[in-house]
Amino acid sequence: MRKKTGIAILGSTGSIGKSSLDVITSMNEHGENYEVTFLVTNKNVDLLYQQVRKYNPLGVVIIDESRANQFRSYLNGEKLKVYSGEEGLMEVMAGGEFDVLISGLVGFAGLRPTLKALEAGKTVALANKETMVVAGEIVNETARRHNAKVLPVDSEHSAILQCFSGEGKESVAKLILTASGGPFLNHTRKQLENVTVEEALNHPNWRMGNKITIDSATLMNKGLEVIEAHYLFDLPADRIEIVVHPQSIIHSMVEFVDGSIKAQLGMPDMKIPIQYALTYPQRVRSKYQRVDFGKISQLTFMKPDTDKFTLVKSAYEALRAGGTATAILNAANEAAVDLFLRGKIRFLQIAEYVKGALDSIESKSAPAIEEIFEADRAARQFVYAETERV
Ligand SMILES: NC(=O)c1ccc[n+]([C@@H]2O[C@H](COP(=O)([O-])OP(=O)(O)OC[C@H]3O[C@@H](n4cnc5c(N)ncnc54)[C@H](OP(=O)(O)O)[C@@H]3O)[C@@H](O)[C@H]2O)c1
Repeated sequence: MRKKTGIAILGSTGSIGKSSLDVITSMNEHGENYEVTFLVTNKNVDLLYQQVRKYNPLGVVIIDESRANQFRSYLNGEKLKVYSGEEGLMEVMAGGEFDVLISGLVGFAGLRPTLKALEAGKTVALANKETMVVAGEIVNETARRHNAKVLPVDSEHSAILQCFSGEGKESVAKLILTASGGPFLNHTRKQLENVTVEEALNHPNWRMGNKITIDSATLMNKGLEVIEAHYLFDLPADRIEIVVHPQSIIHSMVEFVDGSIKAQLGMPDMKIPIQYALTYPQRVRSKYQRVDFGKISQLTFMKPDTDKFTLVKSAYEALRAGGTATAILNAANEAAVDLFLRGKIRFLQIAEYVKGALDSIESKSAPAIEEIFEADRAARQFVYAETERV
């Protein structure tokens, strides 16, 4: 029997985490040999306990200390290592009892554990795009130094990786990232003024966690993905384009120097790119839904309206500025999305606050990791302080 591949999942109770566990089950049903060794969650210990009973990992990490105590009270003689807090997480990441880390937690919190796993020489299947956005150079350098790999889980970057297969980098003219356009694609700017949290959370094609769903509604998700693509594929901002494709069947494209374009297509289901990151460069069978061209009447494309969705412009500006600008962009966005989800600010204010943070906080070039943390803190402080002022 083939050696087991041990998987640790950061954010096992989230949308990516749950899909990853389904992928592991499905691959094992198709004769593969994966085992879950660690599950990491913030506070959803009830679901974590169900996952433990089903997947029988070596251990778990619960970031929230009080929930960790609650979780311990559920245990009934199970042989399980239970870690808690950031320290526990770092210990597990450095301990190396896994072959692949699926980095599926949300936000800046993913940076430290992802770097730790790379330092341990592990392969990281990266869903947590914020890590690449805030510290792309450091992530790449850490991976290089420790002979570790970063493989994209984001469907757009997975598509590009698949289009790159068999091609030399010198053949690539540009990347074309597709965007669904989100729930407000056809809204006027005036209509955007009063959209509700509920409307913003109602994505037409994808079911995802709240933060990325709001990012999809503002189109910031695509801005973050442009930055992620820059660091993953080493191409400058002016060779990474966005095209709105509301059906989400083409997951992204690569144009080559001879004018040919390769596209990767599939149903909008994150299990497909998650599986590809785990089996790369091979493919294994899956039972996931297939594209039925008889049922798709059209595939359409349009330019993104960046006067309406101005965060796309801010993301390109931050990428061009470099240094800590992308960390400022990301932190201001995380804080503003949090405020919007809590009903404290309106939808269009998310973009205003992010621009405000970028305009007000000085960016540092070639930052050390501490400077990235400092930029993150400053941008969050800026946004929360702005709300208190109004
Ligand atoms: N969802 C998608 O389809 C999709 C697609 C492409 C990329 N992504 C990216 O994947 C990442 C995860 O997205 P998601 O939609 O899966 O988010 P989600 O559903 O909100 O799940 C987030 C997960 O992270 C855990 N978590 C939150 N803060 C944490 C912390 N400080 N330390 C450890 N764990 C923490 C949560 O635990 P609790 O449940 O205990 O709170 C939960 O398990 C994001 O970066 C997103 O941009 C997602």
